Amino acid sequence: MKTFKIAVAGGGSTYTPGIAKALMLKKDEFPISEIRLYDVDAERQRKVALMTEKVVAEFDDNVKVSHTTNPKEAFEGADFIFAQLRVGGNAMREKDEKIPFSHGVVGQETCGPGGMAYGLRTIAPMIELCDFAAEHAPEAWIINYSNPAAIVAEALRKERPNARILNICDMPIGMMLRMAEILGVEKDEIEVDYFGLNHFGWFTDVYVKGESRMEELREYMSVNGLVTPAQSKDLQHSDVDWIKAHTNVAKMLQLFPEYIPSSYLQYYLIPKTVVEQTNLDYTRANRVMDNREKNLFDSIAQLEETGELKEGFNVGVHGTFIVDVAMAIAYDKRERFLLIVENNGAIPNLPDDAMVEIPAYVTNRGPEPIRLNPISLFYKGLIEQQLASEKLLVEAAIEGSYQKALQAFALNKTFPSAEVAKIVLDDLIEANKEFWPVLN
Ligand code: NAD
Ligand code: G6P
Ligand code: MN
Repeated sequence: MKTFKIAVAGGGSTYTPGIAKALMLKKDEFPISEIRLYDVDAERQRKVALMTEKVVAEFDDNVKVSHTTNPKEAFEGADFIFAQLRVGGNAMREKDEKIPFSHGVVGQETCGPGGMAYGLRTIAPMIELCDFAAEHAPEAWIINYSNPAAIVAEALRKERPNARILNICDMPIGMMLRMAEILGVEKDEIEVDYFGLNHFGWFTDVYVKGESRMEELREYMSVNGLVTPAQSKDLQHSDVDWIKAHTNVAKMLQLFPEYIPSSYLQYYLIPKTVVEQTNLDYTRANRVMDNREKNLFDSIAQLEETGELKEGFNVGVHGTFIVDVAMAIAYDKRERFLLIVENNGAIPNLPDDAMVEIPAYVTNRGPEPIRLNPISLFYKGLIEQQLASEKLLVEAAIEGSYQKALQAFALNKTFPSAEVAKIVLDDLIEANKEFWPVLN
């Protein structure tokens, strides 16, 4: 049986040990010989590698775990490259959130001005990553989680159309797990219809054994949103901030009961509520640094001191999903997932060159998206506006165009006015000098 070599770019990520454990949990079906971590921050990665090695050794002594800052060493001979870069780290995430909030606008990791700021930092490193992969591991598939996934996917579609990359997001899976719990079934019993862009989509139907359960979900969710009757197994999206986001799904469903919105649509449809619910001095980045990041690095410090393993991380839907996608490619499983793919007519009344999030069957040659019906004017209007914003942002990055960046900001539904968009853009330029291309 073939054994697989996995490279993890952004090896120092808080998610690396969970992904390694997810790989080990599937090792009998998907045997792994090596996990190689690659990062630009050697010290952070060294620590995460210690935990990863320990977690892997609990399952199988023969799996080699290594870490390097050299892309050739990391990628040569790899079958898969799992990418999860956070360019600028949580320190910059905090600025992406707080700068817009200081002007009364949504500040978020992937949506609105924060997401666009993060996009302008991430496009060049992701292009570089694709080039490293093409040079050192031309046969490998890159499975990419690096955010902002919608903007990254558009930039790579445009700049590296031949890259063997599949862009994925764990939010729909997290939502599906919660919907299964609401319906009292297992996640694997659920099949969904869905369309949109990444972090900008709708579940149009939810089936169990071929029967629509949409009515039941609509009834429950327009009161409770995605807050489940008992503690959800989706631990990754379960803290106080996530409970707020899940609750806001109810508010959106009350306005527009037709389809179940991605929780991320709150930033575009009810931004005023989101801003009012936010503590401007303690945003999501602060919570992540004080919890997910701190718990992991505390448990690593303990491991270094005592040799004792206290995990301090979750496998979550995040780890399981990326491994499932890799297995579908490796074994040509033709399994159905929601993925970010080039539209090419799948949604007939959206542009061919939109990177859309829709169901696709995954084979060893990549995704085969399904065809959908035309979408109605409300969704089409929202999507086209967001798509134009994302496309302009990518063009701004590539051409170094201030005017296009301003257009991208002004078009984004998180902004009440182009004047505010300019103020926020100018502050973000100042904060991102070290990372952004120069915009003239
Ligand atoms: P983190 O800061 O803990 O880890 C990211 C790592 O990337 C760091 O070790 C950093 O040094 C490294 N890095 C930065 N620039 C790099 C470069 N150019 N080359 C190689 N490594 C680089 O972040 P995290 O909270 O673990 O999240 C990791 C990423 O995964 C983020 O982009 C996050 O948004 C994303 N994510 C995406 C999804 C999704 O649904 N698509 C879900 C969860 C997390
Ligand atoms: C979901 C989204 C990711 C996002 C993450 C943020 O999983 O799909 O794209 O990065 O949430 O979670 P955090 O705990 O870092 O706020
Ligand atoms: Mn996501």
